[in-house]
Amino acid sequence: MVSRIKELLGKMSITEKIAQLSQLSADYFQKDGVTLTGPAGKQQITSEELHSVGSVLGISGATRARKIQENYLQHSRLKIPLIFMADVVHGYKTIFPIPLGLASSFDPELVEKTAKIAAKESANAGLHAVFAPMVDLVRDPRWGRVMEANGEDPFLNGSLAAASVRGFQGYGTGELDRNHVATCVKHFAAYGAAEGGREYNTVDISEWQFRDQYLEGYQKAIETGARLVMTSFNTLFGVPATANQKLMRSILRDELGFDGVLISDWNAIGELREHGVADSQVDAAVKALKAGVDMDMMSFAYFELAQKLEKENQISQEFTQLLDEAVYRVLKLKEELGLFEDPFRGMDSLKEEENVLTEDNLKVAQKAAEESTVLLENKNNLLPLRADAKITLCGPLAHESDLLGSWSWKGDTVKNVTIATALQDKFRNVTVLDDDLTEGVIDLDILKQKTAGSEVVIAVVGLRSFQSGEATSMVKPCLPSEQLGLLKALNKTGKKIITLVITGRPLVLTEVSELSDALLLPWFPGSRGSQAIANIIVGEVNPSGKLPMSFPRSIGQIPVYYNSLRTGRPLTGRSSIDQENKYLSKYIDEENSPLYCFGYGLSYADFKIKKVTLLDNQIAEDGEVNLQVEVKNESHFDGQTVIQGYLHQCVAETAQPERELKMFKKIMVKANETKIVDFRIPASRLAYTHQNLIQKVDCGKYLLYVGFDANTEEKVSFEIV
Ligand code: GLC
Repeated sequence: MVSRIKELLGKMSITEKIAQLSQLSADYFQKDGVTLTGPAGKQQITSEELHSVGSVLGISGATRARKIQENYLQHSRLKIPLIFMADVVHGYKTIFPIPLGLASSFDPELVEKTAKIAAKESANAGLHAVFAPMVDLVRDPRWGRVMEANGEDPFLNGSLAAASVRGFQGYGTGELDRNHVATCVKHFAAYGAAEGGREYNTVDISEWQFRDQYLEGYQKAIETGARLVMTSFNTLFGVPATANQKLMRSILRDELGFDGVLISDWNAIGELREHGVADSQVDAAVKALKAGVDMDMMSFAYFELAQKLEKENQISQEFTQLLDEAVYRVLKLKEELGLFEDPFRGMDSLKEEENVLTEDNLKVAQKAAEESTVLLENKNNLLPLRADAKITLCGPLAHESDLLGSWSWKGDTVKNVTIATALQDKFRNVTVLDDDLTEGVIDLDILKQKTAGSEVVIAVVGLRSFQSGEATSMVKPCLPSEQLGLLKALNKTGKKIITLVITGRPLVLTEVSELSDALLLPWFPGSRGSQAIANIIVGEVNPSGKLPMSFPRSIGQIPVYYNSLRTGRPLTGRSSIDQENKYLSKYIDEENSPLYCFGYGLSYADFKIKKVTLLDNQIAEDGEVNLQVEVKNESHFDGQTVIQGYLHQCVAETAQPERELKMFKKIMVKANETKIVDFRIPASRLAYTHQNLIQKVDCGKYLLYVGFDANTEEKVSFEIV
């Protein structure tokens, strides 16, 4: 197929080549059904330019997409089809839990399954590529986009990044079939490390930390065959990503071997001027092209460059090569998608009807919500409730139909069932307090009267969809004060309280946990979230979610994450010494530990690690750590749990965390059953970034902590020799 692309390149004018490298929002092609995910473009462009652009973003629907493609091809001189891209991040019409929720499942197969469904729905609605997975490592809940991420751990992030790409694209790098779409891993790179958690803010981390902690997610996605990468808005190593040749040429292209399409984020090329590294659109365009950015999303900088080059009517050999390389990669992607053979790929409304928002898809959405929900507190085993329990239900989100979270673009909220409806379907005695008790002063006497007949109160609180995702940074990642006030008032009624927290980010839940007898975290659980929550509360489903991100006790702790470096004066873990000794790395007004740690999540069952057996405690550098873990479920509840293994390297060349995740597996253990689970950790997974910035495994002594969260004390020791 290379000859077809080469032949086309030979026919294209400068304007046509550069237009092929431009992506416009759908409103440039038609007015209805358009979702803008960035500042609207004000630029006017000619019909010739419009009918030469390479791609359109933010439109879907077989009929609508077909109409745009037909119209475009009628006017296009070279009949190069448009490629349709959009933000399908955690579902197209069937919406799954937000990615941070899916990460709580610790189940790569489940994540892959949801991506496969999202791909099939998207591909049959006219989309060719999706702006997913987002794999920015995140440690700061003030940043609203943590909801799109896989959490704070590099290994979990990399595992789920690969699973997403497999699901969306299918396996391997073969032609993308009609039920899969190309993936665009984003945002390269390290956007999640924005200072202060403030949106679009500076990222200034060392190359050592970038390689040791932040690179893995992108790397695993690219190794799994991601066809596109999206540049991030932020600076890294002092240069905005979109003009950063070190990042894009040396690391992304040369080191990671990425040969797909590099697309900018929305107007990120144009914003090189605001960053102060370009003095005009043309200057920005030249800098981006030199960095290897193949496609300009909505900045029009490439168009302005084309106009300049046409006027000058001269172009250097170097620049021609830069252009041709970029156009080649875009045309190759269209080739891989089969667009030259069938420009109307996926634009069949009957197939769309058959494949989108099906009951089978919704069933998977419900299972995903059930597996993503995290049980944070369950004092005196209050949950699960009997089906005939007398319940009072209240809270501002009890009647909320939008539990989809941000980036649920085409998700259908109309058909969604609210938590109130789902609980009333599941339980016989539910009294719903319709009035929004969070407005004005709560009359405690009235509240006591209203809850008098119930055994337990369920309070549904949290944030709304619009309070998560892009451009939603918060300095106080907490429950709104009026919701905390409601919980305090309910606590005074003397009733048992079950609190459900709907959120797209970790919140400071310290007071909430004290006020609640049971605390459940569904995140934004998606299209069938309410039904999943009801199944968990009634005990038909045993919760198994585990936190992919630490929950702080106080805002002042942020960023607080489990695999931070040890420091020279770490706490000993023995509270008397840690309190008496002044000169330790600690606060005088708060603990160091988070309220809930990475990997934490309760179950109705009672799992115990009975034995950890290393098959060998001397392992070659190119060998494997083989171990067996014996787990017993000492309860009458069947249930799933996640066995986790955390590495401690006794001595290393660069400072290492106290422990870091190197293995995990989700397993079902029936009531009173004992299971033996085999693990094989390739020694290569123990590599870390040395001072020369190379990842390498050291010979030496190691501990492996094995348990059900990052605080486990069960350990074995071994040596790499
Ligand atoms: C937004 C986001 C990016 C998204 C793109 C297209 O600004 O940063 O994640 O894919 O624009 O909608």
